[in-house]
Amino acid sequence: MSISGTDAYDKALHLPPLVERALAAARAHGFPYSCRPEQGRLLHALASGADTLIGETGTGCGLGLAWLAEGARPGVRLVSVERDPERARVAAEVFADRPEVEVLCDDWRRIEERGPYDLLVLDGGGTAKTEDDSPADPARLLAPAGRIVIDDFTPATDWPPLHEGAVDRARLYWLRHSALKTVEIPIAEDLATLVGTRRRLAGTETAWQGFEQGQIVRGVVSRIESFGVFVDLDGTEGFITAPELSRHHFDSFDEVVHGGQEITAEVLAFELFRPQVRLSLAALAPDPLAEFARNAGVGRVVRGPVTKVAPFGVFVRVAEGVEGLVHRDTLTDRAALDVGDELSVEVTDINLVRRRVVLTPLP
Ligand SMILES: C[S@@+](CC[C@H](N)C(=O)[O-])C[C@H]1O[C@@H](n2cnc3c(N)ncnc32)[C@H](O)[C@@H]1O
Repeated sequence: MSISGTDAYDKALHLPPLVERALAAARAHGFPYSCRPEQGRLLHALASGADTLIGETGTGCGLGLAWLAEGARPGVRLVSVERDPERARVAAEVFADRPEVEVLCDDWRRIEERGPYDLLVLDGGGTAKTEDDSPADPARLLAPAGRIVIDDFTPATDWPPLHEGAVDRARLYWLRHSALKTVEIPIAEDLATLVGTRRRLAGTETAWQGFEQGQIVRGVVSRIESFGVFVDLDGTEGFITAPELSRHHFDSFDEVVHGGQEITAEVLAFELFRPQVRLSLAALAPDPLAEFARNAGVGRVVRGPVTKVAPFGVFVRVAEGVEGLVHRDTLTDRAALDVGDELSVEVTDINLVRRRVVLTPLP
Protein backbone atom coordinates (compact mmCIF):
# COMPACT_ATOMS: atom_id res chain seq x y z
CA MET A 1 0.00 0.00 0.00
CA SER A 2 1.28 3.46 -0.85
CA ILE A 3 -0.04 6.18 1.46
CA SER A 4 0.38 8.85 -1.20
CA GLY A 5 -0.30 6.61 -4.19
CA THR A 6 -3.17 8.61 -5.68
CA ASP A 7 -1.44 11.98 -5.05
CA ALA A 8 1.71 10.68 -6.76
CA TYR A 9 -0.13 11.03 -10.10
CA ASP A 10 -0.29 14.83 -9.76
CA LYS A 11 2.99 15.08 -11.70
CA ALA A 12 2.55 11.99 -13.89
CA LEU A 13 2.38 12.62 -17.64
CA HIS A 14 1.06 10.57 -20.57
CA LEU A 15 -1.21 8.21 -18.69
CA PRO A 16 -3.18 5.60 -20.67
CA PRO A 17 -6.91 6.48 -20.96
CA LEU A 18 -8.16 3.72 -18.64
CA VAL A 19 -5.60 4.76 -16.01
CA GLU A 20 -6.86 8.37 -16.28
CA ARG A 21 -10.39 7.08 -15.75
CA ALA A 22 -9.45 5.04 -12.65
CA LEU A 23 -7.44 7.97 -11.31
CA ALA A 24 -10.46 10.28 -11.66
CA ALA A 25 -12.57 7.72 -9.77
CA ALA A 26 -9.97 7.39 -6.98
CA ARG A 27 -9.77 11.17 -6.65
CA ALA A 28 -13.55 11.61 -6.73
CA HIS A 29 -13.91 9.03 -3.94
CA GLY A 30 -11.02 10.38 -1.89
CA PHE A 31 -9.17 7.04 -2.07
CA PRO A 32 -5.48 7.73 -1.33
CA TYR A 33 -4.02 4.21 -1.45
CA SER A 34 -3.76 3.63 -5.20
CA CYS A 35 -0.61 2.05 -6.60
CA ARG A 36 2.02 4.63 -7.58
CA PRO A 37 2.75 5.37 -11.26
CA GLU A 38 6.13 3.61 -11.03
CA GLN A 39 4.37 0.44 -9.87
CA GLY A 40 1.67 0.93 -12.51
CA ARG A 41 4.24 1.05 -15.30
CA LEU A 42 5.81 -2.16 -13.99
CA LEU A 43 2.38 -3.84 -13.93
CA HIS A 44 1.75 -2.61 -17.49
CA ALA A 45 4.98 -4.27 -18.68
CA LEU A 46 4.36 -7.52 -16.78
CA ALA A 47 0.77 -7.74 -18.07
CA SER A 48 1.99 -7.80 -21.66
CA GLY A 49 3.61 -11.20 -20.96
CA ALA A 50 0.38 -12.88 -19.79
CA ASP A 51 -1.28 -15.39 -22.15
CA THR A 52 -4.67 -16.01 -20.59
CA LEU A 53 -5.50 -14.75 -17.11
CA ILE A 54 -4.39 -11.96 -14.76
CA GLY A 55 -5.56 -11.68 -11.15
CA GLU A 56 -5.35 -9.03 -8.46
CA THR A 57 -6.30 -8.85 -4.78
CA GLY A 58 -7.34 -5.43 -3.48
CA THR A 59 -8.81 -3.51 -6.43
CA GLY A 60 -9.10 -0.19 -4.59
CA CYS A 61 -10.62 2.15 -7.18
CA GLY A 62 -8.92 0.26 -10.01
CA LEU A 63 -5.63 2.07 -10.71
CA GLY A 64 -3.44 -1.04 -10.74
CA LEU A 65 -6.10 -2.97 -12.61
CA ALA A 66 -6.27 -0.21 -15.22
CA TRP A 67 -2.50 -0.41 -15.79
CA LEU A 68 -2.80 -4.19 -16.10
CA ALA A 69 -5.74 -3.98 -18.52
CA GLU A 70 -3.93 -1.41 -20.68
CA GLY A 71 -0.84 -3.64 -20.82
CA ALA A 72 -2.64 -6.94 -21.43
CA ARG A 73 -2.83 -8.46 -24.91
CA PRO A 74 -6.22 -8.91 -26.60
CA GLY A 75 -8.07 -11.97 -25.34
CA VAL A 76 -6.48 -11.94 -21.88
CA ARG A 77 -9.02 -11.87 -19.03
CA LEU A 78 -8.53 -9.96 -15.79
CA VAL A 79 -10.18 -10.54 -12.42
CA SER A 80 -9.74 -8.46 -9.29
CA VAL A 81 -11.26 -8.82 -5.81
CA GLU A 82 -12.08 -5.94 -3.46
CA ARG A 83 -13.80 -6.46 -0.12
CA ASP A 84 -15.02 -2.88 0.30
CA PRO A 85 -18.41 -2.73 -1.50
CA GLU A 86 -18.22 0.96 -2.40
CA ARG A 87 -14.72 0.64 -3.92
CA ALA A 88 -15.73 -2.52 -5.75
CA ARG A 89 -18.71 -0.66 -7.21
CA VAL A 90 -16.60 2.35 -8.23
CA ALA A 91 -13.96 0.10 -9.85
CA ALA A 92 -16.62 -1.96 -11.69
CA GLU A 93 -17.92 1.32 -13.18
CA VAL A 94 -14.40 2.21 -14.37
CA PHE A 95 -14.29 -1.05 -16.37
CA ALA A 96 -17.94 -1.06 -17.41
CA ASP A 97 -17.09 -1.10 -21.12
CA ARG A 98 -14.25 -3.63 -20.76
CA PRO A 99 -15.92 -7.07 -20.68
CA GLU A 100 -12.56 -8.78 -20.24
CA VAL A 101 -12.21 -7.16 -16.80
CA GLU A 102 -14.20 -8.47 -13.83
CA VAL A 103 -14.31 -6.85 -10.39
CA LEU A 104 -15.62 -9.07 -7.61
CA CYS A 105 -16.74 -7.77 -4.24
CA ASP A 106 -15.48 -10.29 -1.70
CA ASP A 107 -12.55 -11.37 0.42
CA TRP A 108 -9.35 -11.91 -1.60
CA ARG A 109 -9.66 -15.69 -1.23
CA ARG A 110 -12.29 -15.59 -3.95
CA ILE A 111 -9.32 -15.31 -6.32
CA GLU A 112 -8.62 -18.98 -5.52
CA GLU A 113 -11.77 -20.00 -7.40
CA ARG A 114 -10.12 -19.01 -10.66
CA GLY A 115 -6.66 -19.62 -11.97
CA PRO A 116 -4.10 -20.70 -12.66
CA TYR A 117 -2.90 -17.16 -13.30
CA ASP A 118 -0.17 -16.01 -15.64
CA LEU A 119 0.17 -12.94 -13.45
CA LEU A 120 -1.17 -12.45 -9.93
CA VAL A 121 -0.81 -9.10 -8.15
CA LEU A 122 -1.29 -9.17 -4.38
CA ASP A 123 -2.31 -5.70 -3.23
CA GLY A 124 -5.03 -6.41 -0.67
CA GLY A 125 -4.86 -9.86 0.87
CA GLY A 126 -2.58 -12.87 0.48
CA THR A 127 0.63 -10.85 1.01
CA ALA A 128 1.77 -12.35 4.37
CA LYS A 129 2.58 -8.80 5.49
CA THR A 130 0.49 -8.98 8.65
CA GLU A 131 -0.18 -11.76 11.17
CA ASP A 132 -3.79 -12.12 10.05
CA ASP A 133 -3.03 -12.09 6.31
CA SER A 134 -2.12 -15.64 5.35
CA PRO A 135 -0.08 -15.85 2.14
CA ALA A 136 -1.52 -16.83 -1.23
CA ASP A 137 -0.18 -20.16 -2.46
CA PRO A 138 1.79 -19.62 -5.70
CA ALA A 139 2.11 -23.37 -6.35
CA ARG A 140 -1.67 -23.59 -6.59
CA LEU A 141 -2.50 -20.22 -8.10
CA LEU A 142 0.18 -19.69 -10.75
CA ALA A 143 0.53 -21.36 -14.13
CA PRO A 144 4.03 -22.75 -14.78
CA ALA A 145 6.34 -19.74 -15.24
CA GLY A 146 3.48 -17.51 -14.02
CA ARG A 147 4.41 -14.41 -12.02
CA ILE A 148 3.35 -13.08 -8.64
CA VAL A 149 3.82 -9.44 -7.61
CA ILE A 150 3.84 -8.04 -4.08
CA ASP A 151 4.54 -4.34 -3.90
CA ASP A 152 5.21 -1.59 -1.42
CA PHE A 153 8.47 -2.60 0.19
CA THR A 154 11.27 -0.25 1.15
CA PRO A 155 14.37 -1.02 -0.95
CA ALA A 156 16.51 -3.38 1.18
CA THR A 157 20.01 -2.40 2.24
CA ASP A 158 20.55 -5.16 4.84
CA TRP A 159 20.49 -8.93 4.81
CA PRO A 160 18.30 -10.31 6.19
CA PRO A 161 15.99 -7.44 5.17
CA LEU A 162 14.56 -5.44 8.05
CA HIS A 163 11.18 -3.83 8.57
CA GLU A 164 10.76 -1.38 11.45
CA GLY A 165 13.92 -2.76 13.07
CA ALA A 166 12.90 -6.44 12.95
CA VAL A 167 13.53 -9.12 10.30
CA ASP A 168 11.07 -8.56 7.45
CA ARG A 169 9.39 -11.97 7.51
CA ALA A 170 6.98 -11.25 4.68
CA ARG A 171 9.79 -10.29 2.33
CA LEU A 172 11.82 -13.36 3.33
CA TYR A 173 8.79 -15.57 2.84
CA TRP A 174 8.49 -14.53 -0.79
CA LEU A 175 12.22 -14.35 -1.50
CA ARG A 176 12.76 -17.89 -0.19
CA HIS A 177 9.59 -19.57 -1.41
CA SER A 178 10.58 -22.92 -2.90
CA ALA A 179 8.04 -22.70 -5.74
CA LEU A 180 9.33 -19.28 -6.84
CA LYS A 181 12.37 -17.53 -8.14
CA THR A 182 11.81 -14.12 -6.60
CA VAL A 183 13.66 -10.88 -7.21
CA GLU A 184 13.34 -7.50 -5.56
CA ILE A 185 13.04 -4.66 -8.06
CA PRO A 186 13.72 -1.13 -6.82
CA ILE A 187 11.28 1.09 -8.73
CA ALA A 188 11.83 4.36 -6.87
CA GLU A 189 14.21 5.64 -4.23
CA ASP A 190 11.70 4.71 -1.52
CA LEU A 191 9.83 1.85 -3.19
CA ALA A 192 10.60 -1.75 -4.16
CA THR A 193 8.48 -4.57 -5.55
CA LEU A 194 8.93 -8.32 -5.34
CA VAL A 195 8.34 -10.29 -8.52
CA GLY A 196 8.32 -14.07 -8.22
CA THR A 197 8.32 -16.44 -11.19
CA ARG A 198 6.96 -19.91 -10.66
CA ARG A 199 9.77 -22.37 -11.19
CA ARG A 200 9.65 -24.99 -13.92
CA LEU A 201 11.48 -28.24 -13.35
CA ALA A 202 12.90 -29.04 -16.77
CA GLY A 203 12.10 -32.48 -18.15
CA THR A 204 9.73 -33.50 -15.37
CA GLU A 205 6.57 -31.76 -16.39
CA THR A 206 4.93 -34.22 -18.73
CA ALA A 207 5.42 -37.34 -16.60
CA TRP A 208 5.74 -37.85 -12.87
CA GLN A 209 5.41 -40.85 -10.56
CA GLY A 210 3.79 -43.00 -13.21
CA PHE A 211 1.34 -40.26 -14.26
CA GLU A 212 1.48 -38.67 -17.69
CA GLN A 213 -0.09 -35.50 -19.07
CA GLY A 214 -3.21 -36.45 -21.03
CA GLN A 215 -3.56 -39.79 -19.24
CA ILE A 216 -7.07 -40.81 -18.12
CA VAL A 217 -7.13 -41.82 -14.46
CA ARG A 218 -9.69 -43.00 -11.94
CA GLY A 219 -9.83 -41.69 -8.39
CA VAL A 220 -12.13 -40.99 -5.44
CA VAL A 221 -13.25 -37.51 -4.33
CA SER A 222 -11.63 -37.13 -0.91
CA ARG A 223 -12.41 -33.49 0.02
CA ILE A 224 -14.36 -30.55 -1.37
CA GLU A 225 -13.04 -27.07 -0.49
CA SER A 226 -14.16 -23.58 -1.51
CA PHE A 227 -11.26 -23.42 -4.01
CA GLY A 228 -11.50 -26.88 -5.57
CA VAL A 229 -11.90 -30.62 -5.23
CA PHE A 230 -9.30 -33.07 -3.90
CA VAL A 231 -9.12 -36.54 -5.36
CA ASP A 232 -7.35 -39.59 -3.99
CA LEU A 233 -5.42 -41.32 -6.77
CA ASP A 234 -4.41 -44.45 -4.90
CA GLY A 235 -2.37 -42.49 -2.37
CA THR A 236 -1.34 -39.58 -4.61
CA GLU A 237 -3.22 -36.29 -4.24
CA GLY A 238 -5.20 -35.06 -7.24
CA PHE A 239 -6.80 -31.62 -7.46
CA ILE A 240 -9.50 -30.10 -9.70
CA THR A 241 -10.10 -26.32 -9.91
CA ALA A 242 -13.58 -24.92 -10.57
CA PRO A 243 -13.13 -24.26 -14.32
CA GLU A 244 -11.84 -27.83 -14.78
CA LEU A 245 -14.78 -29.42 -13.00
CA SER A 246 -17.50 -28.91 -15.58
CA ARG A 247 -18.15 -27.10 -18.82
CA HIS A 248 -21.62 -26.28 -17.51
CA HIS A 249 -22.54 -23.52 -15.13
CA PHE A 250 -22.75 -24.55 -11.46
CA ASP A 251 -23.13 -22.62 -8.22
CA SER A 252 -21.46 -25.03 -5.85
CA PHE A 253 -19.05 -27.93 -6.26
CA ASP A 254 -21.46 -30.46 -4.76
CA GLU A 255 -23.78 -29.95 -7.73
CA VAL A 256 -21.08 -31.71 -9.78
CA VAL A 257 -19.35 -34.16 -7.41
CA HIS A 258 -19.78 -35.50 -3.90
CA GLY A 259 -17.36 -36.88 -1.30
CA GLY A 260 -16.54 -40.54 -1.88
CA GLN A 261 -17.59 -40.43 -5.54
CA GLU A 262 -15.44 -42.39 -7.96
CA ILE A 263 -14.51 -40.21 -10.93
CA THR A 264 -12.63 -40.47 -14.22
CA ALA A 265 -10.47 -37.46 -15.11
CA GLU A 266 -7.69 -36.33 -17.42
CA VAL A 267 -4.22 -35.49 -16.06
CA LEU A 268 -3.41 -31.87 -16.90
CA ALA A 269 -0.18 -31.13 -15.02
CA PHE A 270 1.84 -31.78 -11.89
CA GLU A 271 2.33 -29.58 -8.87
CA LEU A 272 5.72 -30.91 -7.93
CA PHE A 273 6.06 -28.68 -4.89
CA ARG A 274 2.97 -30.00 -3.15
CA PRO A 275 3.20 -32.75 -4.66
CA GLN A 276 -0.07 -33.08 -6.52
CA VAL A 277 -1.59 -34.09 -9.85
CA ARG A 278 -3.82 -31.47 -11.52
CA LEU A 279 -6.88 -33.09 -13.05
CA SER A 280 -9.77 -32.12 -15.29
CA LEU A 281 -13.26 -33.56 -15.54
CA ALA A 282 -14.33 -30.88 -18.01
CA ALA A 283 -11.70 -31.99 -20.53
CA LEU A 284 -13.52 -35.30 -20.93
CA ALA A 285 -16.93 -33.73 -21.54
CA PRO A 286 -18.07 -32.63 -25.01
CA ASP A 287 -17.50 -28.91 -25.54
CA PRO A 288 -20.97 -27.29 -25.61
CA LEU A 289 -19.61 -24.11 -27.18
CA ALA A 290 -18.07 -26.01 -30.11
CA GLU A 291 -21.35 -27.96 -30.47
CA PHE A 292 -23.32 -24.70 -30.40
CA ALA A 293 -21.02 -23.13 -33.01
CA ARG A 294 -21.42 -26.18 -35.24
CA ASN A 295 -25.17 -26.66 -34.86
CA ALA A 296 -26.55 -23.19 -34.23
CA GLY A 297 -23.93 -20.74 -35.42
CA VAL A 298 -23.88 -17.06 -36.21
CA GLY A 299 -27.17 -15.53 -37.34
CA ARG A 300 -29.30 -17.93 -35.32
CA VAL A 301 -32.15 -16.43 -33.26
CA VAL A 302 -32.47 -17.89 -29.76
CA ARG A 303 -34.65 -17.19 -26.74
CA GLY A 304 -33.08 -17.72 -23.32
CA PRO A 305 -32.96 -16.57 -19.70
CA VAL A 306 -30.75 -13.80 -18.36
CA THR A 307 -28.18 -15.51 -16.09
CA LYS A 308 -26.19 -12.52 -14.90
CA VAL A 309 -26.55 -8.72 -14.97
CA ALA A 310 -23.21 -6.91 -15.18
CA PRO A 311 -22.35 -3.20 -15.55
CA PHE A 312 -21.32 -3.81 -19.17
CA GLY A 313 -24.37 -5.85 -20.19
CA VAL A 314 -26.31 -9.02 -19.49
CA PHE A 315 -25.47 -12.68 -20.01
CA VAL A 316 -28.10 -14.88 -21.64
CA ARG A 317 -28.09 -18.69 -21.73
CA VAL A 318 -28.48 -19.68 -25.39
CA ALA A 319 -27.90 -23.42 -24.96
CA GLU A 320 -27.08 -25.82 -22.13
CA GLY A 321 -23.61 -24.74 -20.96
CA VAL A 322 -23.39 -21.75 -23.33
CA GLU A 323 -23.89 -18.13 -22.33
CA GLY A 324 -23.51 -15.06 -24.49
CA LEU A 325 -23.13 -11.37 -23.73
CA VAL A 326 -25.60 -8.72 -24.79
CA HIS A 327 -23.59 -5.53 -24.51
CA ARG A 328 -25.32 -2.73 -22.65
CA ASP A 329 -25.00 -0.35 -25.63
CA THR A 330 -27.36 -2.61 -27.59
CA LEU A 331 -29.96 -2.80 -24.81
CA THR A 332 -32.71 -0.20 -24.86
CA ASP A 333 -34.38 -1.18 -21.59
CA ARG A 334 -31.59 -2.69 -19.51
CA ALA A 335 -32.78 -1.22 -16.22
CA ALA A 336 -35.82 -3.51 -16.39
CA LEU A 337 -33.83 -6.71 -16.98
CA ASP A 338 -33.18 -9.13 -14.16
CA VAL A 339 -31.80 -12.64 -13.72
CA GLY A 340 -34.36 -15.14 -15.00
CA ASP A 341 -36.01 -12.76 -17.52
CA GLU A 342 -36.37 -14.25 -20.99
CA LEU A 343 -34.78 -12.44 -23.94
CA SER A 344 -34.83 -13.10 -27.70
CA VAL A 345 -31.40 -12.57 -29.19
CA GLU A 346 -29.50 -13.05 -32.42
CA VAL A 347 -26.06 -14.69 -32.25
CA THR A 348 -23.74 -12.14 -33.89
CA ASP A 349 -20.30 -13.58 -33.06
CA ILE A 350 -18.76 -16.76 -31.66
CA ASN A 351 -15.09 -16.95 -30.74
CA LEU A 352 -13.95 -20.42 -29.71
CA VAL A 353 -10.46 -19.28 -28.65
CA ARG A 354 -11.67 -16.44 -26.43
CA ARG A 355 -14.70 -18.58 -25.50
CA ARG A 356 -17.04 -15.71 -26.15
CA VAL A 357 -20.50 -15.43 -27.71
CA VAL A 358 -21.82 -12.00 -28.66
CA LEU A 359 -25.58 -11.50 -28.86
CA THR A 360 -27.83 -8.72 -30.15
CA PRO A 361 -31.27 -8.33 -28.57
CA LEU A 362 -34.34 -8.56 -30.80
CA PRO A 363 -37.34 -6.35 -30.27
C1 LIG B 1 -3.49 -0.68 -1.50
S1 LIG B 1 -5.17 -0.72 -1.80
C2 LIG B 1 -5.29 -1.33 -3.43
C3 LIG B 1 -4.83 -0.39 -4.47
C4 LIG B 1 -5.12 -0.86 -5.86
N1 LIG B 1 -4.65 -2.20 -6.14
C5 LIG B 1 -4.49 0.09 -6.85
O1 LIG B 1 -3.58 -0.34 -7.54
O2 LIG B 1 -4.90 1.23 -6.91
C6 LIG B 1 -5.69 -2.14 -0.91
C7 LIG B 1 -7.13 -2.53 -1.13
O3 LIG B 1 -7.26 -3.87 -0.70
C8 LIG B 1 -8.50 -4.03 -0.08
N2 LIG B 1 -8.39 -5.20 0.80
C9 LIG B 1 -7.71 -5.30 1.97
N3 LIG B 1 -7.82 -6.53 2.49
C10 LIG B 1 -8.58 -7.24 1.63
C11 LIG B 1 -9.06 -8.59 1.61
N4 LIG B 1 -8.79 -9.42 2.60
N5 LIG B 1 -9.82 -9.00 0.58
C12 LIG B 1 -10.13 -8.12 -0.45
N6 LIG B 1 -9.71 -6.83 -0.48
C13 LIG B 1 -8.94 -6.40 0.54
C14 LIG B 1 -8.73 -2.72 0.66
O4 LIG B 1 -10.11 -2.51 0.89
C15 LIG B 1 -8.11 -1.72 -0.30
O5 LIG B 1 -9.09 -1.15 -1.15
